[in-house]
Amino acid sequence: MAENDNLENYWMPFTANAGFKSNPRMIERAEGMYYYDANGRKILDSCAGLYTHAAGHCHPAIVNAVEAQLRSLDYAMAFQFGHSGAFELAARIAELTPGNLDKVFFTNSGSEAVETSLKIALNYHAAGGESQRVRFVGREKGYHGVNFGGLSVGGIARNKNGFAAGLPHVHHMRNAYSSDNFFSEGQPETGYEFADDLEQIVRTYGADTIAACIVEPIAGSAGVFVPPKGYLQRLRKICDTHGILLIFDEVICGFGRTGEAFGAHAFDVIPDIITMAKALTNGTIPMGAVALNTTIYDQIVAGKAENTVELFHGYTYSGHPVACAAGLAALNVYRDEGLFERSKALSSKLSALVFGLRDLNIVRDIRSYGMLAGIDLEPDAATGDRGYDLMRHCFEEGLVLRTSGDSFVLAPALIASNDQLEEMIAIIRKSLVRYMT
Ligand SMILES: Cc1ncc(COP(=O)(O)O)c(C=O)c1O
Repeated sequence: MAENDNLENYWMPFTANAGFKSNPRMIERAEGMYYYDANGRKILDSCAGLYTHAAGHCHPAIVNAVEAQLRSLDYAMAFQFGHSGAFELAARIAELTPGNLDKVFFTNSGSEAVETSLKIALNYHAAGGESQRVRFVGREKGYHGVNFGGLSVGGIARNKNGFAAGLPHVHHMRNAYSSDNFFSEGQPETGYEFADDLEQIVRTYGADTIAACIVEPIAGSAGVFVPPKGYLQRLRKICDTHGILLIFDEVICGFGRTGEAFGAHAFDVIPDIITMAKALTNGTIPMGAVALNTTIYDQIVAGKAENTVELFHGYTYSGHPVACAAGLAALNVYRDEGLFERSKALSSKLSALVFGLRDLNIVRDIRSYGMLAGIDLEPDAATGDRGYDLMRHCFEEGLVLRTSGDSFVLAPALIASNDQLEEMIAIIRKSLVRYMT
């Protein structure tokens, strides 16, 4: 960091600002699996940016596509006008989504994708003459971004505290997790019946008041909670029985993280709506999207005159040309480099390495699926927050690690080598043994 850098004005997101500013962790450039600081120190990235960079940092094909796009069309009015990139990217996404989730609405982030999905769910029911379906069901530990809709259906208490009530009419299922499932590699064998919480909410409030149920196939941000076998199938069945839309928030799971294009494929359950962001553009340019089935789309647009706006919703930057160029280039890279297949092949290596930490008595639980792993540590009696110290120590040792509370997550880019995965675990082990007495 240059001596005269001014750190005062930038209010950093989800960051302990005071702690950062007294001991900054500044990153200067990135390439592939590594960040570099101003002194050229190499720092291994264990979270693919923020679950974003499936193909690693500064991929030349994506950088070139963005550069070229900026020279030809930097923006086209998003409302009532179009450009070819947005249509092309929507078609490419529709090729990847399961079932008939063939209609795509663009946003600028995962949070906006979630808000959009909730609004579409309400609009769909209203268009079908069921405007009384206003309730949403989320799940404890769910993370659906930080805007009021996503915050409301989300289930992380720390994110909600201090922000008043949020959306009315929101209910939460329990997280599908118990100590019976500790140290499950892949999908836990037991726990599918947690899905019956949805049935319970239906019994209490009436199916005809519920618009949608939203879950992450694997709850990512709260620490990687993998759905028990049969759980998502059961949720699907309950939704079908009661006319409730099922939304999969695949902002983390999408684009190869599970070893398939989407978690929906990995767990063999087709939702009605999928939200996505992050790896959609390999994190290069902010972008999110909502894919929805043609039934929802048709119900909303049906009977509207040709000159009528069907959905009063959209963002200035929906389908931004530069984001579309990045998205198209990213999807080409994933296809040409076979990254979804690579993710599947690499996942057993990651899992074996992560479960190798089990011998440390400070490790309370380990969960993994695909190229995602979550590790809980025994809480620190004094601070209840070991993760912060762990993150700082790992950075000094040359690793960027995503921690939260007493947990940490591994979500390396899908291009990681075996050696790089081993190096991640070696640094983490070295940092963890400091806590052992
Ligand atoms: C599942 C999920 N949904 C939504 C979001 C919000 O995305 P963004 O930070 O792009 O608004 C995230 C971010 O991590 C996420 O993991």
